[in-house]
Amino acid sequence: MRKINALDRQRTVYTQGATGKRQLIPFQPNLLAQAAQQRMSPAAWAYIAGGAGLEQTMSANASAFDRWRIVPRMLRDVEQRDTGTAFFGHTIPAPLFLAPIGVLEMVHPEADLAVARAARQLGLPYVFSNQASVPMEHCAAAMENTPHLFQLYWSRSNDLVVHFLQRAEAAGCSGLVVTLDTTMLGWRTRDLDMASLPFLQGKGIAQYSSDPVFRKLMAEPDTSPKPSTRLSWDAIRTLIQANRNFPGSFWKNLRSGAGLQAVRTFVRLYSRPNITWADLPFLREHTRLPIILKGILHPDDARKALDYGVDGIYVSNHGGRQVDGSIAAIEALPAIVETVRERVPVLIDSGFRGGADVFKALALGATAVGIGRPYCYALAINGQAGVEELLSNWMADFEITMGLSGCKNLAEVRAAAVVKI
Ligand SMILES: Cc1cc2nc3c(=O)[nH]c(=O)nc-3n(C[C@H](O)[C@H](O)[C@H](O)COP(=O)(O)O)c2cc1C
Repeated sequence: MRKINALDRQRTVYTQGATGKRQLIPFQPNLLAQAAQQRMSPAAWAYIAGGAGLEQTMSANASAFDRWRIVPRMLRDVEQRDTGTAFFGHTIPAPLFLAPIGVLEMVHPEADLAVARAARQLGLPYVFSNQASVPMEHCAAAMENTPHLFQLYWSRSNDLVVHFLQRAEAAGCSGLVVTLDTTMLGWRTRDLDMASLPFLQGKGIAQYSSDPVFRKLMAEPDTSPKPSTRLSWDAIRTLIQANRNFPGSFWKNLRSGAGLQAVRTFVRLYSRPNITWADLPFLREHTRLPIILKGILHPDDARKALDYGVDGIYVSNHGGRQVDGSIAAIEALPAIVETVRERVPVLIDSGFRGGADVFKALALGATAVGIGRPYCYALAINGQAGVEELLSNWMADFEITMGLSGCKNLAEVRAAAVVKI
């Protein structure tokens, strides 16, 4: 694991600049996004950057940070700084992790594997998406002892859910993140305008197509109504991609129809809008992994989660991709922290774009912050090396913000003054 020293990182950038070398990953979030957009197809950009409806939740996520202000303290000897913290049985070098992001093959051919390798280099946890482009076992092998978790979408097949849990345990995951806010796909206007959904081309379904229970489900008769499709170049392209994305030989998949059958089975099963709190004990019965609920925004839901014995709360609005006009995640945090009262860790993501945002969340009581779109942008720009550079920058930025605010460690950050204006 590479150790990051914030001042060394800063010095490297400036000394390399003095000899004419610029960093590949822009530091300003808007330039990072712009550079990534130039490297992505319009459909990939729409999928990654977009949100639901008018994207007001995305705006709320960004602007909410502006209402919380750090009150730095002086003369507190910040020569030695320690950003390490506990995270589900591990010690991690910074209160950061990589949030689960699906369909990364749209961004870079090495997709999740490049992200896993980068996360391992920096020692930061990575939550493998249920909609990953690479099976969890491959990413787990790349992570070695660095903590990794599996994110679950509760599908219509409990057999499949149980098998995913078993695979996550066997892959050495440190926790199960159950995403609750995506019982249906949000109304994602950019994707709708492009009429583009990557799953229909067999993208982002690697956890399923690598799963023997899913393979069995593929053989079941599909009674759902089939959309009437005309034969067109686009239809042929979709057919080719679905078979190319399915494991095994393309020609064999084309002959057997496996690629298309996998997509149809996925569409039939992937989400179960009728899950309720009463279903949670089923997960507890089938896994010994810590269970973390993602998408909690109301303190009453946090209270209920604790009543059901969950091991972690993950405050998130899915980066504004689900409910448009939702409360910003950072706005929801204080009341949830107050409810949880340090009984379990409180994770958070949605709209975080730098070290000061992370500082504010920790001062408001979060345990660790999930990085979302920014690491996809770094992946688009320069693959694994790009993600490593981005993570180093975030770690350095946080450490410098912490020191300049008068804090030597996270205990001091948690006691630090953040005021609402
Ligand atoms: C392209 C994309 C795909 C995502 N896929 C998943 C997913 O598979 N599972 C999940 O729980 N969250 C998913 N998320 C949500 C992220 O985990 C996280 O909540 C969000 O990206 C945080 O917002 P931010 O990107 O604005 O920081 C996805 C987000 C994006 C942008």
